[in-house]
Amino acid sequence: MPPSVPTLSHRAPRVRSEPLSGRWTRRLLLDDGRVLWLRPIDPADAEPIRQTFPLLSPEEIRMRFLHPIKELTPDLVRRLTTIDPAHQFALVVSEPLPPGEALVGAVARLAIDVGTSRAEFAILVSHFIAGKGLGRLLMAQLIRWARLKRLDEIYGDVLDENTAMLELADSLGFQREVLPDDPGIIRVRLTLRAAGKTSPRRR
Ligand SMILES: CC(C)(COP(=O)(O)OP(=O)(O)OC[C@H]1O[C@@H](n2cnc3c(N)ncnc32)[C@H](O)[C@@H]1OP(=O)(O)O)[C@@H](O)C(=O)NCCC(=O)NCCS
Repeated sequence: MPPSVPTLSHRAPRVRSEPLSGRWTRRLLLDDGRVLWLRPIDPADAEPIRQTFPLLSPEEIRMRFLHPIKELTPDLVRRLTTIDPAHQFALVVSEPLPPGEALVGAVARLAIDVGTSRAEFAILVSHFIAGKGLGRLLMAQLIRWARLKRLDEIYGDVLDENTAMLELADSLGFQREVLPDDPGIIRVRLTLRAAGKTSPRRR
């Protein structure tokens, strides 16, 4: 049995995974027999992501971006797929094909707020592969990266109707916070380091 990625919760992982080349790349086996790859996002993912964006439902787009978006412009998709590794981290779940050829079914990212030791997450697991444990797996990997970077906190803004994300965040130990200036949005925050303990961040 291949080693599994830790899920940071008591729940048994529903996705089986085994390492491929590279620290963040894994072969995933879903419970319906589908084989996918978990890997860092690549600039070559831009075009497949842009072309398949219309297959997402308006609801899942609104949950991810907090407002409706009709299309991913070339500029936006380029920014989403080009990572500054000192401050950003993004993983995809894709078909087991090279970037550029593979359809991408899920994207999760963290971006450090400039000059701070906290990072904002965003995630979208498309309905084609949702409900199979990939959201939990991706969040666990984001938390792992944040810990390696010695960040103090990760947070995300979630629509208050987004039960799936709120429950996932709760189960991972995030705390909910109401934003007085943003009705309808819940900020979920996960503290990674005890207050007062600081050490240099890794680049
Ligand atoms: C929220 C989201 C990431 C969950 O991804 P997923 O792969 O379906 O989640 P998982 O299968 O790993 O489930 C993890 C947990 O999420 C919660 N969850 C998932 N789907 C749920 C649903 N339909 N209703 C309630 N809770 C749900 C459960 O707590 C679940 O726990 P379990 O592991 O014990 O089943 C996914 O639904 C999504 O991308 N939604 C649209 C975009 C979005 O909301 N992004 C968040 C804001 S940035």
